[in-house]
Amino acid sequence: MRDLDVLIIGAGAAGLMCAIEAARRGRRVLVVDHAKKPAEKIRISGGGRCNFTNLHCSPANYLSQNQRFCVSALKRYTQQDFLALVDRHRIAWHEKTLGQLFCNDSAQDIIDMLLGELRKAGGKLQLETAVTGIEALPGGGFSVATTRESLKSSSLVVATGGPSIPKMGATGFGYDVARQFGLKVIPPRAGLVPLTFSDSNRELCKRLAGVSVDAIVSFGKTSFREGLLFTHRGLSGPSILQISSYWQEGQPITVNLAPETDVFETLRGLRSASPKQDLKTALGAVLPKRLADELATVHGLSGRLADQSDKVLRRAGDAINRWQLTPVGTEGYRTAEVALGGVDTGELSSKTMEARKVPGLYFIGEVVDVTGHLGGFNFQWAWSSGHAAGQVV
Ligand code: FDA
Repeated sequence: MRDLDVLIIGAGAAGLMCAIEAARRGRRVLVVDHAKKPAEKIRISGGGRCNFTNLHCSPANYLSQNQRFCVSALKRYTQQDFLALVDRHRIAWHEKTLGQLFCNDSAQDIIDMLLGELRKAGGKLQLETAVTGIEALPGGGFSVATTRESLKSSSLVVATGGPSIPKMGATGFGYDVARQFGLKVIPPRAGLVPLTFSDSNRELCKRLAGVSVDAIVSFGKTSFREGLLFTHRGLSGPSILQISSYWQEGQPITVNLAPETDVFETLRGLRSASPKQDLKTALGAVLPKRLADELATVHGLSGRLADQSDKVLRRAGDAINRWQLTPVGTEGYRTAEVALGGVDTGELSSKTMEARKVPGLYFIGEVVDVTGHLGGFNFQWAWSSGHAAGQVV
C-alpha cells in the first residue's frame, strides 16, 4: 500500500492548486482523477480562453448559506496573487469587460502552467484512476481503494467539483464522500444556466433565436445588467445565467429590454414631435428591429403614434421596460456552468477547509456550498480554497 502525506481526489482547478501548495511545503502529494486528461473544465472555460479571475472579486460575488465563509480564503489568496502567477509564466491576458480576465491565446496555457508548477514542486498526478472506497483509519489518516492500487494518506482532499456537464466526467462524488462521513450537504442544483419557458414565451423565444440585447434582469431585489440572448429553448446570455443562480421555481423574473430608455416617456415625446410615425417604427429605434416587430405583433401595437392613447403607450413601455415572465425551469446540469449548494460550510473550517468532525478530511472548490457569479469568480474560489487547504494538509 503506497503511503502518502496528501491524497487529492480531482485534478481540476482547486485540486491542482492545493497540490502545488502542499508539494511546495515538501509534502508527498498525489492527485488522482478518473478522467483521461486533467482540468477539462479549465480547457473548455471562457469559450476556450478561460476567464481565470476577476479584478473586482469580493465576497459579495458569491452565493452560499453562509455568505461570510469565503472571506478568509479569498483574502489570503487574492485575484492579484493568481494574476502574479499568470504573469510569471508570461501568459498573455486581457480584460474583456467588468474586470473579467481571459487568456489571449488558450485556456491550455493555464493548465500547462498548473501542471508545470506541480511538476516543479514534486507533486504527482495519476489519471484514469477512480476511487472505489474510502475508510478512516483508527490511528488517523485514510485508506483509499482505487481502480489501480490501494493508498494510505494522512490527509485526504476532495476536489471533485460539481455535477454540471456530466459528459465531461463531472459527478456528485464529493457529496457522497461528505455524507459517508456524516457531513451535511446543501441540496445541489444547476446554476449559471439558461432558463426555459413554456407556451407563448417559448414560441416567442424560438422566433427571436439569435437576437441579443443589453438588458437588466431582476429576481426580487437582485439585478444584473449584461447581455441577454434569445434561443430556441428560452433565454440565455450573461444576465440570464447570473439571475438563474438566484431564481426560484414558480416565481417570475423581470426583464428590462431597453435599460437606457424610459419607453413610455420616449413614445409620448415622439407622439408630439412626429405624430405620423408608426408605433412599430418608433419601437425599432429603441430595440433591434426583429425584436421590435415581434413585440409589436404580440402586444397588438400598430398604427400612427398620433392615434395611440397613453394607456397603449404605457402597455408598450411595460412590455419593454418591465417584461415579467415565469420560467418553467432551467436547461439543468447538461449546460450549467456550476452547481449551487454542496458541502455545508458549517461543517468546514473557513481557514483550512478541513471538516470539523473529521480531522484530515478537506473539501475545496465547487464541491463546497460557495458559488460565484459569472465572470471568473468560480475559478478564483477554486484557487483560493485550494491554496488555503494547501497550506495545512
Ligand atoms: P473541477 O470540475 O474543475 O474539477 C473536478 C475534477 O474532479 C475533474 O477533473 C473531474 O474529472 C474529477 N472528478 C470528478 N469526479 C471524480 C471521481 N469520482 N473520481 C475522480 N475524479 C473525479 N468559471 C470561471 O471562473 N470562469 C470561466 O470562464 C468558467 N467557464 C466555465 C465554462 C463551462 C462550460 C463550465 C461547465 C464551467 C465554467 N466555469 C468557469 C466554472 C468552473 O469551471 C468551475 O467552477 C471550476 O472548474 C471548479 O473547480 P473544481 O476544481 O472545484 O472542479
